[in-house]
Amino acid sequence: MNNFTYYNPTKIEFGKEKENNIGEYLEQSGIKKVLLVYGGGSIKKNGLYDKIIISLNKNNIAFEELSGVVSNPLLSKVNEGIEIAKNTNIEAILGVGGGSVADSAKAIAVGAKYDGDVWDFFINKATISEALPVFTVMTLSATASEMNGNSVVMNDITKQKYSIASVLVNPVVSVINPELMATVSPEYLAYSAVDVISHCIEVYFTASVHPNFNSRIVESIIKTVMQTTEILIENPNDYDARAEFAWAAIQGLNGLTPAGTGGGSFPNHMIEHSLSALFNVPHGAGLAVVIPAWMKWYKVQNIPQFKRFSKEIFNSEDENVGIEKLENWFSKIGAPVTLKEVNIPRESIEELAINANELANLWGFGALYPTGSIIEILEKA
Ligand code: NZQ
Ligand code: ZN
Repeated sequence: MNNFTYYNPTKIEFGKEKENNIGEYLEQSGIKKVLLVYGGGSIKKNGLYDKIIISLNKNNIAFEELSGVVSNPLLSKVNEGIEIAKNTNIEAILGVGGGSVADSAKAIAVGAKYDGDVWDFFINKATISEALPVFTVMTLSATASEMNGNSVVMNDITKQKYSIASVLVNPVVSVINPELMATVSPEYLAYSAVDVISHCIEVYFTASVHPNFNSRIVESIIKTVMQTTEILIENPNDYDARAEFAWAAIQGLNGLTPAGTGGGSFPNHMIEHSLSALFNVPHGAGLAVVIPAWMKWYKVQNIPQFKRFSKEIFNSEDENVGIEKLENWFSKIGAPVTLKEVNIPRESIEELAINANELANLWGFGALYPTGSIIEILEKA
């Protein structure tokens, strides 16, 4: 096992009705005014918005609002939030929604403390040294944004979907009430399952060091997500399945699974972000297209771990069976597995590869994924 530093300062408040205490959690942190950030209206439809406002008022927390965050969240919306935060003495950002809302909240938190263009942080032109505190109430479990310092934002002008990472934007408190997730659509349930699995397998397959403990956590998360997804397709209101899914999703990208491994990279995310950036494909849907293709292409570089995956997840000695069965499972739950299914024509592969390779360079593994290799992978999709 390699040396590592593990530090995750987010407090998780998990369980039924915890959202009613959000005002209290803010008050306990000394916050008196927040910017409430949310999406396209699901929180108004299901009554969560009203509960949040009641809790803020009860605890004398003043607030401004920023609504309309979309999936594949936009830099222009983040900039709107930064303006509000700078002009109205906002002390913390409260995101209520899924990963797109949480990520926008984090980017606003960073931009509110910076005189320049917040995009500077996304292209490594500036280093994050300050941010407003972030709080979240999650309505969808997938990204683990609720317990990490990542924010992924789409620059609507340059068509780049890039990220920042800083412990300064790890949420101070994240509220996870699995009941709030019962209204997530079947499509997004499937995309979420794929996303969680993807977070686990990126490092599981690409690391140079594979501690058994880490591999076993990954396998446990994958099995849990597969099992609970199938239960939730049948019964979206199954609380225990929702709860296990949510807790497993958080472990998928809160720093736990890669700790002690070495040399891992995130190639599926790197390629997927180009599908989102250029064709506005939902993140999990794009991953379902990329992952089977990448697995077929990459397999020869780590046969032992692909054999292990086949054995542990699908009870087969053949490394190819794991890939085939995972692809079939994605299809079964309603996720697309080909570029055709997400309406991306073959002629766009080169443009996608160039976009993805720019991100690979930024993430430090451009040499492993030249444009030609990304084209080969996408041809398999
Ligand atoms: O906008 P509203 O009306 O709220 O609708 C949302 C949105 O349309 C809806 N939704 C959320 N909770 C709901 C609900 N609908 C009904 N009931 C509920 N309880 O679901 C749709 C998708 O929401 P979104 O936040 O986009 O989904 P997700 O959580 O999957 O986030 C995806 C974004 O996170 C990024 C992705 O790239 C993508 O932009 N990622 C962030 C990461 C991170 N911060 O660590 C890592 C990931 O790998 C990922 O890249
Ligand atoms: Zn992801």
